[in-house]
Amino acid sequence: MSGPIRFLTSFAQAVATMALYGPAHPARTRAVDGSYRLLRELQMHEAQPEFSFLGDEVVYGQHPLRDMRDWEWAARLAAAGVQRLEFAADVTRDDFEAFLDGIVSQLALPMLDGAQPHAMGARSSGAIRFGPLGIRGESRLTSFVQHATLPTARRTYELTEEVATVEWMHEQVTDRAQLPLLEAESVVRSLAVAMHGDQEMLLPLLSLREFDEYTTTHSLNVSVLTMALSEAMGMGARDVRAFGVAGLLHDLGKTRIPRDVLNKPGKLTDQERALMQGHTVEGARIILESDRELDLAAAVAYEHHIMIDGGGYPHRRIARKCHCASTLVHVCDVYDALRTHRPYRVAWETSAVLEYIEQGAGTDFDPEVARVFVDLMRRMEGRIEHATLAELRAGVQDGVPATSP
Ligand SMILES: [Fe+2]
Ligand SMILES: [Fe+2]
Repeated sequence: MSGPIRFLTSFAQAVATMALYGPAHPARTRAVDGSYRLLRELQMHEAQPEFSFLGDEVVYGQHPLRDMRDWEWAARLAAAGVQRLEFAADVTRDDFEAFLDGIVSQLALPMLDGAQPHAMGARSSGAIRFGPLGIRGESRLTSFVQHATLPTARRTYELTEEVATVEWMHEQVTDRAQLPLLEAESVVRSLAVAMHGDQEMLLPLLSLREFDEYTTTHSLNVSVLTMALSEAMGMGARDVRAFGVAGLLHDLGKTRIPRDVLNKPGKLTDQERALMQGHTVEGARIILESDRELDLAAAVAYEHHIMIDGGGYPHRRIARKCHCASTLVHVCDVYDALRTHRPYRVAWETSAVLEYIEQGAGTDFDPEVARVFVDLMRRMEGRIEHATLAELRAGVQDGVPATSP
């Protein structure tokens, strides 16, 4: 993974050099040449490289660049309107230089009091696309020349690949007792991207059509909700994503429960209930056996049905405070479960679910967590986008064909 890192480093050096020297200066030419050469080298492996700058992390395609964590340029680029950057296969040196020029002028903006955004260089082409974070393949990215008139069309989201990945992940756990952690992390990153596609945060949630899809849709929703909640509680990007992974994996133990029990319409027998409740212990075991370092996710899998007053399950003989991630996932879990139609109960209205959570503050739920969650969801009203898996698979949302290729 050194190619993308070398390129990004040279890219930042080129921008810094250009900010210092005038157009004809040899240092500037050298810096642009060097960075363009590394870009072309990178393109021998990946014709259309894509980067995302997410808070303190840099993602290349779908792969987080761990060595670039806390790279200060990620925040600078994001501030200059570059949270997502894509290069076309035929990008020329002129395109690249014009792009760098644009970045330099954008970066200089905060220093120029009241200055208007600079017009972008006429030499630029659509070979370099950048913009606020969007979903992979979506056409909201803007080419350089269009930057000043960035469209603010209503966004749609497309999580088809993420859904497929989670389904596959559950199969791997069922068939091979293996948890593909990297894929789980990459799904969470995509969800984080989907949530921050616009200036405002959005909640891309899935609705259930087929009962069989429950564990998949529910896992993705709980992950999104947990990230939104942890963000609202003021956590940093890294914790937010660790909590997102824990949310995604919280019901992993359900992969071991027979489907007829999982989707049973009537009352469960004592034996079935015990099996069902065992998904907590089972999930924690699967996670720890797969990766000892996932202790946070394992704790959440174990604790997410334990109430703040000690009720719920699994029963603990000695009362102990749950991990804070478990208290967050607990609220999000209840919210998503109640608003979903299940074989044994109809879906609740969102307002009723929020009232239920408010009433349970202090007994079922941590009061502070419940308060922040309810506030958040009331504020998010109108910014929650629903799609069913069938709609995602058909590439259609809200009756409008998806824009991706
Ligand atoms: Fe659960
Ligand atoms: Fe759950």
